[in-house]
Amino acid sequence: IATNAVLSATLTGIPYKQLTVGVPKEIFENEKRVALSPAGVQALVKQGFNVVVESGAGEASKFSDDHYREVGAKIQGTKEVLASDLIVKVRAPIYNSALGVHEADLFKTAATLISFIYPAQNPDLLKKLAEKKTTVLAMDQVPRVTIAQGYDALSSMANIAGYKAVVLAANHFGRFFTGQITAAGKVPPAKVLIIGGGVAGLASAGAAKSMGAVVRGFDTRAAALEQFKSLGAEPLEVDLKESGEGQGGYAKEMSKEFIEAEMKLFAKQCQDVDIIITTALIPGKKAPILFKRDMIESMKEGSVVVDLAAEAGGNIETTKPGEMYVHKGVTHIGYTDLPSRMATQASTLYSNNIIKLLKAISPDKENFYFDPKDEFDYGTLDHVVRGTVVMKDGKVIFPAPPPNNIPQGAPVKQKTVAELEAEKAATITPFRKTMTSASVYTAGRQLPELGSVVVDKGDPPDLETSPCTKLFCC
Ligand SMILES: NC(=O)c1ccc[n+]([C@@H]2O[C@H](COP(=O)([O-])OP(=O)(O)OC[C@H]3O[C@@H](n4cnc5c(N)ncnc54)[C@H](O)[C@@H]3O)[C@@H](O)[C@H]2O)c1
Repeated sequence: IATNAVLSATLTGIPYKQLTVGVPKEIFENEKRVALSPAGVQALVKQGFNVVVESGAGEASKFSDDHYREVGAKIQGTKEVLASDLIVKVRAPIYNSALGVHEADLFKTAATLISFIYPAQNPDLLKKLAEKKTTVLAMDQVPRVTIAQGYDALSSMANIAGYKAVVLAANHFGRFFTGQITAAGKVPPAKVLIIGGGVAGLASAGAAKSMGAVVRGFDTRAAALEQFKSLGAEPLEVDLKESGEGQGGYAKEMSKEFIEAEMKLFAKQCQDVDIIITTALIPGKKAPILFKRDMIESMKEGSVVVDLAAEAGGNIETTKPGEMYVHKGVTHIGYTDLPSRMATQASTLYSNNIIKLLKAISPDKENFYFDPKDEFDYGTLDHVVRGTVVMKDGKVIFPAPPPNNIPQGAPVKQKTVAELEAEKAATITPFRKTMTSASVYTAGRQLPELGSVVVDKGDPPDLETSPCTKLFCC
């Protein structure tokens, strides 16, 4: 009878009311986000789940313990929360120095973890989680297909980063964004140049435009220029014709000639604009340097530059990643934790992403159940489930096999962790070894893109320089 019960649970899942979801306090340095907002907890409680939240988990996001209690959560300590059936986190589990134990070591056997994971960059963590027979859903691996937009935490965090970049720039700029004619005098509008029209760049364009600035945008992809235009920004172009369109709509590395041509364009713009926000990234590569020191030094006193690519090396030569400082009269903002600096908003959207994901992958009214299949069609829910689940009952199932019916231009198959590790070991020099281990902890760009670019161009994956866009991702 016992075997039958286990078998039937495996086939049909476990009733929500028998499961506890744990929301721990994030312990990564300066991390202010929390994985579930009170509204998210309420949705899970309504579904039938029991929810436990660590005391103070939402404090930095302005969600008090009482908020969580009011919607039906129990407030508990670190150890109790991490011993839940489902653990929902923002950051991948790390060593808890206050308790002298790794967070994953406090998980119960066969728990489910939902979090940013970056499986390719974190093989040791995967090993640890495998020992505990954990099932892992990686928020950074949710396939970026239309059906999954509601669970795309990379995009929701990039959106916040783009907005916050404008708010910070406005805060450090000495003038209005909007032009005004007042009795006291005529005020010209601020001119904002945005490089890169991905999720973050377009969010910046929208925010700067709504504040009344004159906004210009540049991207190597024609589609992004169109999007700039639709937001009311002026798209800039270079004479050289070269498409920046890479695999799956992502950017490809541009030729030396193209980079030179765009830098020539930017050099002129530097003498005209007041604010520059850069977001140019190439999946799996170091961010291209697009603004040299002399270009920045040619900007007007009081100008502001925000380098959202800072963690991937930066688009601006004078950026100091993680720092804000003034160089020759130009304020440089190189913060790499912008979503966490808008913690309430970031937590709310991240929480929504998680709730939507859970509802989509386990649509049953009574039981929690999902089944990653190895055969699935591109853009379907099966694609989302298989892509997101990177470990099932302790078995690493990352990366997912390629879907059937891949439309032309969609990302190609990812490489396995073992393949990437082997290639890395073969190419790494002792000199760069230390650098690599450092970048592993800060790296964040999702692997599908890394894989797609690497496979597409036939290059070895350069994990040493692989951009860490933790800012956009975790
Ligand atoms: N669910 C979905 O369908 C989904 C979700 C998210 C993003 N997307 C799409 O994926 C694409 C990439 O979005 P992202 O936010 O991840 O981008 P990203 O953060 O990887 O890159 C930012 C931008 O930098 C641009 N760039 C690269 N090199 C440049 C250079 N030398 N000069 C100027 N610009 C340069 C890129 O073209 C890109 O638009 C977009 O088309 C976006 O709409 C789709």
